[in-house]
Amino acid sequence: MPLADILGPVESGRVPPAPSAPAVSARVYRPLPAPELTWTPAVEAATAHLYERVKAVIPPVEWPFMAPYVKAINDLKTERNAVILAHNYQTPEIYNCVADFVGDSLQLAREATKVNAEVIVQCGVHFMAETSKILNPSKTVLIPDSRAGCSLAESITGADVRLLRQRYPGVPIVAYVNTSAEVKAEVDICCTSSNALAVVESLPGDTVIFLPDQYLAKYVASQTAKKVIAWKGACEVHERFTGDELRMYREADPEVQIIAHPECPPDVIAEADFTGSTAHMINWVRDHHPKRVVMVTECSMADNVQAELPDVEFVRPCNLCPHMKRITLPKILDSLLHMREEIVIDPAIAARARRSVERMVNLKN
Ligand code: 13P
Ligand code: SF4
Repeated sequence: MPLADILGPVESGRVPPAPSAPAVSARVYRPLPAPELTWTPAVEAATAHLYERVKAVIPPVEWPFMAPYVKAINDLKTERNAVILAHNYQTPEIYNCVADFVGDSLQLAREATKVNAEVIVQCGVHFMAETSKILNPSKTVLIPDSRAGCSLAESITGADVRLLRQRYPGVPIVAYVNTSAEVKAEVDICCTSSNALAVVESLPGDTVIFLPDQYLAKYVASQTAKKVIAWKGACEVHERFTGDELRMYREADPEVQIIAHPECPPDVIAEADFTGSTAHMINWVRDHHPKRVVMVTECSMADNVQAELPDVEFVRPCNLCPHMKRITLPKILDSLLHMREEIVIDPAIAARARRSVERMVNLKN
């Protein structure tokens, strides 16, 4: 069913939010000496097996600059009893060489609930680190750069959600996980791109409010009989793709396979052979092993799959997420050395947000 309505801050009557106080660190950790960061035969030997994983996408001339960081980070993880959870959009040296677990937002959230280590370093964006903290509050959750935001998460506040409730009393509200803890605390259930339809279908009644991604809302609306009321948010990376651009790739090679993330606009999804979350896209390439494929999503993901499948040719319309790209090896090292930047959430907000995230995680799909 087409979208029933689409609202933004102006239509909802939003008052601009007051700036929030900076988070304060909750625990004190012993200082550790800064490691040597030089390329030595010992570093080369200790990281040789990791270079094997990325040699298809990282030239040999660049490895001596990365390897000392890779070794130091892996040593520090042991020292700090830490694990690294990394999103599929992280660069190949992070994804393949220092991460303990990689995945899409749903997989990372599920993994966060299982972490036994004392510290989680989230290599992704701020809402992902908040989700880990919400789901596993006794852990110290660090993000190497707290400015790693998301245009979707920034498009809506908790006050906006309260206004939507007043306007549509009794209508269930679904929030994409790409939202702040404050927004998650106000909604009924969360979803990710891999379970959005199942979450919407699990709710009572014939109407749902789906926020904040208008394009994911449209994609879900095209597959359900429910009426979907959407919010005007968009991903600044995926909204840049166009159907025209994809038709050009097809004209150049009618055999090319095109797979898209559901945060893309509808004319892009209409051109795609497959649409799914980042993990579903990776699995599609593994399963179909196409000769040539366009991955219509953030650019680093093609590098990560290329490292695993060097004989697949990736056509790269390279849209980078500036927030994901704030996470780098030097910042991960700094994060583990100085135990910053720690995610701290108001306990009352975290408790309410946990309800919505756990409802999603516990949904069978
Ligand atoms: P996935 O859950 O599909 O990994 O998407 C997260 C995201 O931020 C996409 O832009
Ligand atoms: Fe947010 Fe888009 Fe970046 Fe994903 S790619 S984190 S949705 S801005």
